[in-house]
Amino acid sequence: MNKDIERVLYSVEDIQNAAKRIGNQLAEDYADKTPILLSVLKGAILWSVDVMREMDSYVELDFIDVSSYHGGVESAGEITLRTDLTTDVAGRDIIILEDIVDTGRTLKYMIELLHKRGAASVKVASLLDKKEGRVVDVAVDYVGFDVPKAFVVGYGLDYKELYRNLPYVGILKPKIYSEEDSATLNSQE
Ligand code: XMP
Ligand code: MG
Repeated sequence: MNKDIERVLYSVEDIQNAAKRIGNQLAEDYADKTPILLSVLKGAILWSVDVMREMDSYVELDFIDVSSYHGGVESAGEITLRTDLTTDVAGRDIIILEDIVDTGRTLKYMIELLHKRGAASVKVASLLDKKEGRVVDVAVDYVGFDVPKAFVVGYGLDYKELYRNLPYVGILKPKIYSEEDSATLNSQE
């Protein structure tokens, strides 16, 4: 296990099972449609890959980068559209693939944007749902795991752009946060 991780919350196998369950469910629910899987950069890339390959049905793939974070552990209120998707969503069925829904602000922003552009339907499949953190009222239609209100990393989720490559989801050691001002993570022991 990575030396900066205190505890693994969801193992490789847990995540694989969740991707299988949700991928199969989506394929069934959208069997007569060709939805656009909208993967939210950068955190949802591993989740998107694992869910989509469990779907034996017609799907398209696109990406969006919407950020409410500025490198730390606290969610900022302001949403920035960094990279827009390239597909015309008018009349299309969209499945947003997210890594985690916390306050719900990012998700709400994307859902409103897609509806404004004329999407026929918008549903959400998130690896993690941090329900306790919710500030705005948004529903996650497909949930991998209900996650407690801790800052988690791995499997796409980062702390200062690190740990996205870990194949599991875990909690960082507190010392990683406390040392953040004195040194960069890369130069730590
Ligand atoms: P909101 O608050 O808009 O946030 O629902 C959603 C986005 O915030 C990020 N986020 C996290 N990232 N560990 C992370 O690495 C976390 O525990 C965490 N909580 C929220 C994430 O980018 C998500 O898309
Ligand atoms: Mg994200």
